[in-house]
Amino acid sequence: MDKIIAANWKMNMTSVQTHKFFREFKKKDSKKRINKIVIVCPPFTSLPAAAKDTKDERIKLGSQNMHFEKKGAFTGEISAEMLEEYSVEFVIVGHSERRKYFKESSKIVNKKLLSALKNSMVPILCIGENEKERKKGNAGKVVEKQLRECLAKVPEGKMQKIIIAYEPIWAIGTGKNAEPKDAQGMHAEIRSIISRIFGKDTAKKVFIIYGGSVKPENAGELGRMKDINGFLVGGASLDAGSFIKIIDNA
Ligand code: PGA
Repeated sequence: MDKIIAANWKMNMTSVQTHKFFREFKKKDSKKRINKIVIVCPPFTSLPAAAKDTKDERIKLGSQNMHFEKKGAFTGEISAEMLEEYSVEFVIVGHSERRKYFKESSKIVNKKLLSALKNSMVPILCIGENEKERKKGNAGKVVEKQLRECLAKVPEGKMQKIIIAYEPIWAIGTGKNAEPKDAQGMHAEIRSIISRIFGKDTAKKVFIIYGGSVKPENAGELGRMKDINGFLVGGASLDAGSFIKIIDNA
């Protein structure tokens, strides 16, 4: 199975900084990689710069968000059609920061995910428990509920087009990544939940990537786990050199 390494730049990187990032990326990139799919998700205003800089590279573009309606009176939102203009093929849905700060429920995440599929975009669905839920031993239950709600009404044949990102909230931006064997345990659990809903064959093929304080130093060990099919990287993806190391170590 290939590995997917996706950068989530969050609210960072102007277009000038984006050009600088890709200049550095191209200079340092070894280009010997095979079986690795690299995705960068810049903020909307940097998409034109990123689209220009990644034209001939093996880097794909993703969006950090997308509205589920086609167009209309939705101030501040962005549509699939607008993203397609910049060759955006992936879209992050259900990131915990959107759930927390923008009150996005799993029901809304589900609408966004279905809309992305309808528009031939690949949703990167983020799920994960918070620290309290983990301490209580409820991580598995929380993740199953999120999965069932966010994947509602997904036709069986489409499940393979969805990337699942397991991102324990307590690991995001804290410098404290999940222990590889714990992350592996949750990834295996996620795969078995998908298997129960969509069948074994589908579950085997679904990419389940890990996010939460991924760095060049921990990418190797995490990446060797059987059910970890890559990473969603926040902070450490803002520096071209460290992102390349993560890609190479994954
Ligand atoms: P982090 O963020 O790598 O900075 O922890 C990951 C994410 O939020 O996707």
